[in-house]
Amino acid sequence: MDISGLKEKVTSEISSVKNIEDIKKVKVFLLGRKGLFAEFLDTLKTLDKDLRKEAGRSINELKVWTENKVKEVETLYEEQEKIKREAASWIDVTMPGKTPLIGKKHPITQTLEEITRIFVSLGFSVAEGPDIEIEYYNFEALNIPGDHPARDMQDTFYVAPGTVLRTHTSPVQIRTMESQLPPVKIIAPGAVYRCDHDISHTPMFHQVEGLLVDKNIRFSDLKGILSMFIGEMFGKDTTLRFRPSYFPFTEPSAEVDMGCVICAGKGCRLCKDTGWLEILGSGMVHPQVFRNVGYDQEELTGFAFGMGVERIAMIKFGIDDIRQFYYNDIRFLSQF
Ligand code: DAH
Repeated sequence: MDISGLKEKVTSEISSVKNIEDIKKVKVFLLGRKGLFAEFLDTLKTLDKDLRKEAGRSINELKVWTENKVKEVETLYEEQEKIKREAASWIDVTMPGKTPLIGKKHPITQTLEEITRIFVSLGFSVAEGPDIEIEYYNFEALNIPGDHPARDMQDTFYVAPGTVLRTHTSPVQIRTMESQLPPVKIIAPGAVYRCDHDISHTPMFHQVEGLLVDKNIRFSDLKGILSMFIGEMFGKDTTLRFRPSYFPFTEPSAEVDMGCVICAGKGCRLCKDTGWLEILGSGMVHPQVFRNVGYDQEELTGFAFGMGVERIAMIKFGIDDIRQFYYNDIRFLSQF
């Protein structure tokens, strides 16, 4: 190949380049240590001195030209690559940010905390007991005899002979009185379990138990404390009604209703046209319960109450199906 042949080869190689990879290959092919120019310069050795000098100069001129050309094309493609890279990683700093979803407390937790806050402000302390309870604390100690309907297998989850999932928080009364001298002034919030599932029952729900034992505690103290609580929870104007009832562990016993928050007593779907909403059970601690824990039933009196937290939350938030609390539907939960 002569010089003009070499120049043709160089020109056609460079003009065939389509991208950055091509130009890199062409650069090596032409200008590399074993490239075309190196090879060509090598053949000069065979020429004699004068010719060699002449040819050497022409080849070197062509080589410099080639180097410049290659550099030029290389820069062009490098520019293009840079633009492509920048386009791919481009960030629009004016785009609005994605707000992260912030978790919230479950409506039942919120309600439990609100109930607790109110009773703590009235001087009650918080007591706890186990969810898995022995039958004795759940029933006998509370004066619920073996043939009482509440002991029926249909309501109670038995985990082992003599052991149940507590059906109410009342056993915490017993545990507290067994471990503590009077006076006692506690609430016991927590989960309870019953084998029941429909629009107003879930197999697990929550209760807050209350117990106040001292000398000279009267039914009017119960009324006073519950009125304060309801006033704080639902507003000062909320009315209360005590209805005679029966619980084995209190005597006398009363069920407490509050004036319907929706219709204010006129009658609606929520209160089933009665104007009243049943919210808790209560009464004066039965002397037998005192005897069971070794308290002096001659000297002491006390009141107790128990309320369903889901029930309170349903009234407070206007929810008509208790199961909503436990579907874990974020559309429901995010409203609270
Ligand atoms: N333990 C009762 C229940 O689960 C609620 C209750 C009623 C608790 C009266 C009490 C009480 O402490 O005095 O239905």
